[in-house]
Order: sequence, then C-alpha cells, then structure tokens
Amino acid sequence: MRYGVVSDIHGNLEALKAVLGECRKLNVDSLLCCGDIAGYGADPKECLGLVRKLKAVAVAGNHDWAVSGKLDFSYFTPDGQAAVVWTRSHLAIEDIFYLNNLPLSLKNKDCTLVHGTLLNPQQFVYLTNETQAADTFALMDTQVCFVGHTHVPKVFIEREGNICQSDILDIELNAKYKYIVNLGSVGQPRDGNPLAGFCIYDTALRMIENHRVLYDINKAQQKILDTNLPETLALRLTRGE
Ligand SMILES: [Fe+2]
Repeated sequence: MRYGVVSDIHGNLEALKAVLGECRKLNVDSLLCCGDIAGYGADPKECLGLVRKLKAVAVAGNHDWAVSGKLDFSYFTPDGQAAVVWTRSHLAIEDIFYLNNLPLSLKNKDCTLVHGTLLNPQQFVYLTNETQAADTFALMDTQVCFVGHTHVPKVFIEREGNICQSDILDIELNAKYKYIVNLGSVGQPRDGNPLAGFCIYDTALRMIENHRVLYDINKAQQKILDTNLPETLALRLTRGE
C-alpha cells in the first residue's frame, strides 16, 4: 500500500490540487489526512469536496472542530477566530456535519492518525518535545503515528524508552523503532519553506518520504485578499511561516 499523508490543508485549494497531482504521479493508493481541512484559506468548501470525493481517511483538527461548533473560540488567536467565523459562513450544512463527525484519532493496521497528541487529543496540544512524544508513544499500538498541527515537519523516534527527534522525514522504517511523523502542512507551511508539504508512506518498501511541491501561491493569496479574511493569512503564505 502506498499512502499519501496530508495535513493542515486549511482551505488552500491551489496547494491541495498540486499535492494531489503529485500523489497521482507517485502512484498513491489511498489518502490519509491529519486534520485542519478547513480554516484560514479561501476555499474550504472546495477542499472538503476533494477530500470527501477521494474518500480520504481523516481525523479532526482544531479548526475543523471549531467550525462545526465543538471547540470554543477562546482556543484561537484573533486571526484564527476570524477564519473560523468566515469559514463557517462559507460551508454547506453537509460540510458542517462531515467536520462534526470526524474522529479525534483513528488507526488501521499500518498507522495511527491524530492532529496533535494521542494523550487528550481534544486539547489539540502542539507535539514539539520529547516529553509529549513519550506520552503519545505510550498510547501507540502501531509502529507509526502521523500528526500535524504545528505545520512544521519533524519526526520523533523511540527505541526502548529513548527518544530522539529529527527534521529529516525520509525514513527507512526499522522494526525496532516506533515513529511519530509530523508531515508539515499542505496549505500553510510554517518552517520557512512556502512549498506545500506531504508524505508518502509505502508499507511494502517500509519507507516514508517527505515531499514539497510548488503551487500557485499568488492565486491562493489573491483569493484570500478578495475576501474579508485577515490580510496576514495571505501574506504569510509567501514566507512559509
Ligand atoms: Fe493547522
């Protein structure tokens, strides 16, 4: 099985289309999504439509839950709150139901998905250090867990209780190790690289590959500027931060 793993699409249709095009070239069989399909970008409805059409297996992000009324606005920055309000008013009721029904985590035989952390996933904590990684490793019963939320690619690797982290996501899986892979963001990267990010997970080759793909950033920005979403949500796409 070759999975395409995406996260934090954030209503950026141009980025999502570029990633899906690359996934087709890379012979992806199935799409996994670690949440935040909606929020920030100008095309939440279209992005949701593509994710649903492709039958992606998805978990909820904080934006998805906030848009569907399951997470309080106080969680968010002012820009985040504005994006939640705008996004909610630009979705159909079936989109809201879809977001409302997304689980906080799920697993199949090959991996686990969660937006932030497996410990208290409803709190949407940013998984950024070894202590948080240890809590999630303790709850994993698959070798690999994919996460998103920080919009910064990173992998945590555990062996016999020892944990290390790396920014290099191209991994040959070692049977002795467990992995938490943050694959970055499709629609709003924050690692200083504005290209859309995603992963390929090949279970036969036992490999994970990180990919970055160029997309029409200007078009995505102009769409945001043409709405009453905060201008900063457009400007940050150029900088990838
Ligand atoms: Fe996000």
